[in-house]
Amino acid sequence: MEMFATTSAAHRRTGSCIIVGVFDSGKPGPGVEDVDAASKGHLARLIKRGDLSGRAGSSMLLTDVLGVKAKRVLVVGLGKKREFGVAAFRRAVSAAATAIRGTKIADVVSYLGAQDVADADAYYLARYTVETIGATLYSFSETKSGRRPRAPALKKIGFGVASRGDSGKAVRGGAHGAAIVEGMALARDLGNLPPNVCTPAHLARTAQKLDRRFKNLSTRVLGETEIKRLGMHSFLSVTAGTTLPAKLILMQYRGGGRAKPIVLVGKGITFDAGGISLKPGPGMDEMKFDMCGAASVIGTMLVAAKLKLPVNLNVVVPACENLPSGTATRPGDIITSMSGQTIEVLNTDAEGRLILCDALTYARRYKPDVIIDVATLTGACVVALGKHRTAVMSRSDELAGEILAAGIAADDRGWQLPIADEYEQQLKSNFADFANVGGRDGGAVTAACFLSKFTEGMNWAHLDIAGTAWRGGATKGSTGRPVPMLSEFVLRRAKAIP
Ligand code: BES
Ligand code: MN
Ligand code: ZN
Repeated sequence: MEMFATTSAAHRRTGSCIIVGVFDSGKPGPGVEDVDAASKGHLARLIKRGDLSGRAGSSMLLTDVLGVKAKRVLVVGLGKKREFGVAAFRRAVSAAATAIRGTKIADVVSYLGAQDVADADAYYLARYTVETIGATLYSFSETKSGRRPRAPALKKIGFGVASRGDSGKAVRGGAHGAAIVEGMALARDLGNLPPNVCTPAHLARTAQKLDRRFKNLSTRVLGETEIKRLGMHSFLSVTAGTTLPAKLILMQYRGGGRAKPIVLVGKGITFDAGGISLKPGPGMDEMKFDMCGAASVIGTMLVAAKLKLPVNLNVVVPACENLPSGTATRPGDIITSMSGQTIEVLNTDAEGRLILCDALTYARRYKPDVIIDVATLTGACVVALGKHRTAVMSRSDELAGEILAAGIAADDRGWQLPIADEYEQQLKSNFADFANVGGRDGGAVTAACFLSKFTEGMNWAHLDIAGTAWRGGATKGSTGRPVPMLSEFVLRRAKAIP
């Protein structure tokens, strides 16, 4: 995608299409006054007649407007001017993308960001524009037979900005947005692929492909022999019931000299049947999304490598399946984790923490500046926060605050849940150092407490994305979250945001 910024008046822009906006009850939005002056009140007449409404989500494509150099003018509704913020802005951009989808329009200049929007500057407006268009035009058809739908024609996006000073910011925002779109699309594709295709080996191959593509990136994949040699018996206990080989995927990006790295750990359960503690049948297909943590950290790695960010970043993905069989781990089995701590497996369906704890122990060797694990870890998280907020947990309120702030800026929000000693006694075991489940109460929190037994002394946070990583129902599919939140976190650490 080619991108540029322009300060020229909307009616002066040449090209296939300019995008302008009208607020509710016909109040002119960005670009409209220019177009109206040049066209002797064309838009004003359409508004007066009631043909053009400023209703949020509406759009109208006009061609050959008098006095306007571009071939087309796409007018989108912005809703109430008083309520216009980031959410309404993104809705308008999405309406524009929907209107353009399926047309031959290959280049647009959007003036929607050439106005004041609360809590967003030219950088973020351009980035949101690209991210929203990317999300709206995303489609997944790899597993349908028959003809693939045509790739979107759109090749070039211009950002109309109010000042020269905003031009540089918008171009930077556009470039960052394009990288985030690609990282999200990769994460979404991996999530949407069926579990017979997106296996641990497939995740490993995907990581290795990125290795070949980016110079500063190196990927290593460990097989079960090496995983055993490392003493990761907690991880291995989860894969015991399947015939597919488990993989430990290790990606390393070096752009930050000798600085300590950011380490991202992603849960890569490519299918979670629950193991011997078998899940109920309805909706079990959605447990193919149980590798979305892994997908999101690999997607974030793509963003960092593509943008050549001046940071050091490591990704650790333990990948396997959780299936029942005669060789599967039993409830009651006691295993010794890589850290040496013993775990009584009371429920084989609480497997995410069992693979993550060994991955977190492994990650100590990187001496992380900060370590964040990302996991579709608990149904309890969905009960607590629903589908809109990622749960953010850390012993460090400062780190939690940094992640929450990144989520707000990236428009990919989180909400903090506690980790505290009071919850810990729920994990007590009569036979091992602790159990892998803590009962119904505060299930998302006790899961984080479990992980915290393996992260002592590290600057660590845990993201539970069980609610945010995918949608069910008629629009079932992976969301690509929290790639924007994680990317923002890394971009901020890289001081790459203007
Ligand atoms: N992958 C699931 C969590 C999950 C369930 C995410 C439903 C999204 C929707 C995880 O491995 C799991 O099964 N967790 C158990 C833990 C319990 C046994 C303590 C759960 O949440 O039921
Ligand atoms: Mn499970
Ligand atoms: Zn799971």
